[in-house]
Amino acid sequence: MNKHIAIIGLGLIGGSLAKALREFDASLAIAAADTDQNALARALAEGVIGRAGALAEICAQARIVVVAVPPLAGPAVLRQIAQSAGPETLVTDVASVKSHLLAMLASLPAGFRSRFVPGHPLAGSEQSGFGAARVDLFQGRNVVLAPLEETAPEAVARIHELWRGIGARVLAMSPERHDRILALSSHLPHVLAFAMAGLLPRRESGAGVHHYAATGFADFTRLAASEPALWSDILRANADATVAALDAFGEDLKQFRNALAAEDWPALGDHLRRARRARAAFDLARGGKEAGNAGGELCFHVRPGGAIASGEIRVPGDKSISHRAIMLGALAEGVSRVSGFLEGEDALHTLAAFRELGVTIVGPEDGCLRIYGAGANGLQAPRKPLWLGNSGTAMRLLAGILAGQGFASELRGDESLSQRPMNRIIKPLADMGAGISAAAGGLPPLLIRGGRLRGIDYAMPVASAQIKSCLLLAGLFAEGITSVREPGPCRDHTERMLRGFGVELDTESRQGMTNLAGGQTLSACDIDIPGDISSAAFFMVAAAISPGASLTLEHVGVNPTRTGIIDILRQMGADIRLRHPRESGGEPVADIEVRQKPLHGVAIGAEQVALAIDEFPILLVAAACAEGETRISGAAELRIKESDRIEAMAEGLEILGIEHETFPDGIRVTGGELGGGVIDSRGDHRIAMAFAIAALRCRQAITIRNCANVATSFPGFAALARQTGLDISEAEIDS
Ligand code: S3P
Repeated sequence: MNKHIAIIGLGLIGGSLAKALREFDASLAIAAADTDQNALARALAEGVIGRAGALAEICAQARIVVVAVPPLAGPAVLRQIAQSAGPETLVTDVASVKSHLLAMLASLPAGFRSRFVPGHPLAGSEQSGFGAARVDLFQGRNVVLAPLEETAPEAVARIHELWRGIGARVLAMSPERHDRILALSSHLPHVLAFAMAGLLPRRESGAGVHHYAATGFADFTRLAASEPALWSDILRANADATVAALDAFGEDLKQFRNALAAEDWPALGDHLRRARRARAAFDLARGGKEAGNAGGELCFHVRPGGAIASGEIRVPGDKSISHRAIMLGALAEGVSRVSGFLEGEDALHTLAAFRELGVTIVGPEDGCLRIYGAGANGLQAPRKPLWLGNSGTAMRLLAGILAGQGFASELRGDESLSQRPMNRIIKPLADMGAGISAAAGGLPPLLIRGGRLRGIDYAMPVASAQIKSCLLLAGLFAEGITSVREPGPCRDHTERMLRGFGVELDTESRQGMTNLAGGQTLSACDIDIPGDISSAAFFMVAAAISPGASLTLEHVGVNPTRTGIIDILRQMGADIRLRHPRESGGEPVADIEVRQKPLHGVAIGAEQVALAIDEFPILLVAAACAEGETRISGAAELRIKESDRIEAMAEGLEILGIEHETFPDGIRVTGGELGGGVIDSRGDHRIAMAFAIAALRCRQAITIRNCANVATSFPGFAALARQTGLDISEAEIDS
């Protein structure tokens, strides 16, 4: 029974699916129903299906039914299936529109809805019919699952497995978002191609006018060769979203038109360049190249004279917690719902990595995710190296999880990540029994041959939350107890969240030791991620140094292992108050109010470093604006972050004319008047943002180069900074 699959409709998609499934597992019993008797006869003759029959009859026998009919035929077919399929049968579809199904589904029994997994392979073409079906149509292609709130997790898992088995990559989103995106990415281009194909001969009549239309016309109108009956169906089914897409397109077209009509050549050039960059980014992504800046180099220009307006702002979700929410949600039993997720590149790389590991994750949509946990032993072997971009957290934590899996994996990252030391996790993971190796010098890429692990008792040489978390996550898969001792406190989000997922941990705070017994089950839970204090820090300092400012940062995480920035700024004389302290998802949260007050220099020693580890770039800006000298020591870790932050900051402060001196483990800065100039952020997001804030007190403008990585942790930084009162603009220069 488990081997019985029924496919309703043997067109391009249904036929290709039958061929791919047949090749994937010859023992599958594939039956099909279609109104086209020729297609059925051909599929039978070619051995692609084992049986042709009436819909009700083949559905009654099937374990999985795939509906591959044109969208408008979907509702009636689903109704028939609901009547004929057994109570265990899973149902999925392949239509490129979903919203028209939602209303009718409400009239079907709840039991049916829990077994229905709306799906859509993004693999159509202008060809149609069984004759065009290809066994490899879904190989390496994206398939979107759009599960209903009521869809059972087991149903989602089985349909995910089906598509993964035939080589597809499985994405997931809500049905509503699916339709909005498809309207823009597919339905609108088809409308335009159909419209364009008819325009030329209508406007320029005369024999042979097509001889004057070259590749532009041919490429642009390729989609107009698609089957009109099918496309009329699709457009009718997704009419609302397609009308909205046409309206948006009309607005954009008007801008082109107006630039041309007004002979505004710079505006025209801007439109064209922006479009070319978007197209280049698309080509890169489609070619599987995940690294690389598609266009030029992103720069920030900040003019002097900005001032922080009073008011309230919200910064994006916490990066550390966002990574962990995906990881633990993926390992849990059940469905975890996450809100406040940071849609920055780092966390999105973690999300993509777990999708490649076979986990269904719906979203992000407005910061919300639905993670269908694979359970402790449910991760699947990745089919390609996992790309983690700029993110050290993603690489080190994931390494801990992958070390305990029964398959091999490879972790890669960008130029900066490829320079970051991995021996700090390789050594203890190897002690636990993992097969793990890196490039020369202990640098990424990491090759992990996962396997059986045993718990160890490990004293960390540095207070690093990444090492601690890596080992605790590996400890989940280890035999016995894993104990990690920290030389000083460092962020404890992993421990808090593990507890939220029902894992028992034993922490001995006096000795800074955490013990975890392997083999525990994680149970799904809901997580509300607060704003990232590391992102809030930029605006805290902005308000602290901008005359007259009074700014409130709402709903920021104030976990005591992260609030070093507040303590240090207060020591410097800043006026910071925590309003409405509360708890959210196991993490302390508050609104942070900052009023400008003159700052003075301070000495910051090793014991304070881990609690403000990511905030030193912006703290050094505060120091440059403070009276007297600030001295940081015991901070050698700053040299091995996304850049050597001691040197990167020293170089920028030099350009601004601020007196300073560097040491192997720190820096000394004397506050003074800030000038201006061109500063290279070295591709480090926090260096870029720190100097943008410094411009509030600069006498001349600052240009900050290499700012694309700001999107790793703080998408929308420049817009929020502008809204808050900075005179900041973004520009791309040819690189
Ligand atoms: C992080 C820990 C810190 C921090 C990083 C995020 C985490 O790194 O700098 O940005 O999420 O665990 P270390 O553990 O290497 O200090």
